[in-house]
Amino acid sequence: MVTFRKFAPKFAAKFAGRLAPLVLLALVLLAMISSVGCRIDMHVQPRYNPLAKSDFFPDQRASRPRVEGTVARGDERADTYFYTGKVGNNDGDFMPFPVTREVLERGRERYNVYCSPCHSRVGDGNGFIPSRGFVRKPPSYHIDRLQKAPIGYFFDVATNGFGIMLDYSSQISARDRWCVAAYIRALQLSQNATAADVPAGQSIPSKPPDFIESGTGATLPRTAPSQAKAGKGETE
Ligand code: HEC
Repeated sequence: MVTFRKFAPKFAAKFAGRLAPLVLLALVLLAMISSVGCRIDMHVQPRYNPLAKSDFFPDQRASRPRVEGTVARGDERADTYFYTGKVGNNDGDFMPFPVTREVLERGRERYNVYCSPCHSRVGDGNGFIPSRGFVRKPPSYHIDRLQKAPIGYFFDVATNGFGIMLDYSSQISARDRWCVAAYIRALQLSQNATAADVPAGQSIPSKPPDFIESGTGATLPRTAPSQAKAGKGETE
């Protein structure tokens, strides 16, 4: 009868050749794992989850407020008029940069996207959303009060909202809000210009369009058919 004692050395001899590489592999793996283990501290560092509680700070907030006076790169707002439209506490009545054709075109584009659904393409307040029962119809930009309002006022309303109208400071950049304000001014002129606004010596290029539909944001403005024939139909 083969006893274990006798069998074991044979078994060892028989399998040693095959086992040796496995043992070696196991050792190598062990070495690798333990060397990786040394880096665990680097991967899992002591840290706080956002807005977690901390006993280290007196106010117990792990997320620290910005150090006073910190300005993020590209976030400097030295030009206060550009960002507020105000001179002191009053709305300013000038553009912070020159109004070019490109500025007005950009303003028209942004206005048609963001404002015309309520204010309509021509700014009379007959946009699509009020027609569907929005709580309040916006005032027309062509009323006397808003015609006389300084341009900084339009920038301010777009930046901070007005009454039930929400603000557009996160959707429209400051420069684009100025472009929109300039375009609103152009809209006001377009509906209310007089012969006296035409520089001396120049002829009046066309009669003001007579809109039968103001362009609700979902539709384009339409002029009376007689004018459309004369090439002054849809504005875009
Ligand atoms: C969702 C509809 C809506 C949109 C979009 C909208 N407005 Fe208005 N807006 C209103 C309403 C409603 C009022 C009147 C608010 C009130 O009296 O409470 C108003 C009022 C105004 C006024 C007049 C404030 C006054 O003194 O009477 C201005 C200027 C104005 N909006 C500019 C803008 C500009 C610029 C945009 C686009 C960036 C815009 N609005 C987009 C609904 C809108």
